[in-house]
Amino acid sequence: MLRAISAAAALIVAGCGVAWAAVQGEHPEEYPFSFESPVGSYDMAAVQRGFQVYQQVCSNCHSMDHLAYRHLGEEGGPFALYMVRNHETGAMEPHVGRPEHGGTFVEVTDNPYVRAIASAVTITDIDPNSGQPADRPGRISDHFRRPFPNAIAAAASNGGAAPPDLSVITSARHGGARYVRSLLMGYDGQVNGTLNHNPYFPGGWLAMAAPLQEGAVPYTDGSPTTVEQYATDVATFLQWSADPHMEQRKRLGIVVLAFLMALAGLFYLAYKQVWRGESH
Ligand code: HEC
Repeated sequence: MLRAISAAAALIVAGCGVAWAAVQGEHPEEYPFSFESPVGSYDMAAVQRGFQVYQQVCSNCHSMDHLAYRHLGEEGGPFALYMVRNHETGAMEPHVGRPEHGGTFVEVTDNPYVRAIASAVTITDIDPNSGQPADRPGRISDHFRRPFPNAIAAAASNGGAAPPDLSVITSARHGGARYVRSLLMGYDGQVNGTLNHNPYFPGGWLAMAAPLQEGAVPYTDGSPTTVEQYATDVATFLQWSADPHMEQRKRLGIVVLAFLMALAGLFYLAYKQVWRGESH
């Protein structure tokens, strides 16, 4: 009897666990992102490729309201431009992304890469002469172009679910960049009307169809053009956008720690000096 009760209890507990996993979503797959350690920094090449994936794929549905094009070229940004001296020729050469060491930062207004990214985008603005909506090329001061004019239009085009803004999505979701990476790789092909099955999504069914296909985004740096690589890169880019000052913060943390350790050493010496020869 007792055994039957405990078996039933175990079944109930296990059943709840399975149900809970379905509601919560499966735990994201582990991945050693370079930014996760206390002294880790962003893999800037991955952030650059991730921007490319966002721009070519995700920006058709998702806005990133917190970002302006100029942010891409500010210090710590993926397309920040530095002039670095070539030690063999002595000439100054442009370097995009964080240089190994040294380098003079070029103001974003003089950064041709960021200008090219912005001007390739078409922004619908108000024509200052006619007062009518008119298209113009983007400027570096523009915020990222929104794919839909408002949330209602966004939901109407996406089976009733508006695609969320992605500016801070890695902070807003449990599991952060790992969750985004796993979600993008986790589709199992089951479709039910406008809903798609994905075990990492809480509830299991979401309105976003698998957005990444192998080979869809051409890479110029020789990285593999696989769904896994795209998912990893775009998750890295979204982590950067949610926390663009992480590297400065960690650097400051190290300086503060070193300072406190030096100060502790000085206090110890002072203590020894003051109490020299005293017995206590
Ligand atoms: C065709 C439109 C479309 C494209 C392209 C698209 N998404 Fe989505 N996405 C959606 C919709 C719609 C939702 C809302 C799904 C829901 O709540 O059911 C969504 C939701 C999400 C979510 C939130 C899931 C959650 O936890 O709420 C993330 C993260 C996401 N998309 C990332 C991306 C990334 C990264 C890309 C580019 C690789 C991308 N999406 C491309 C339409 C799209």
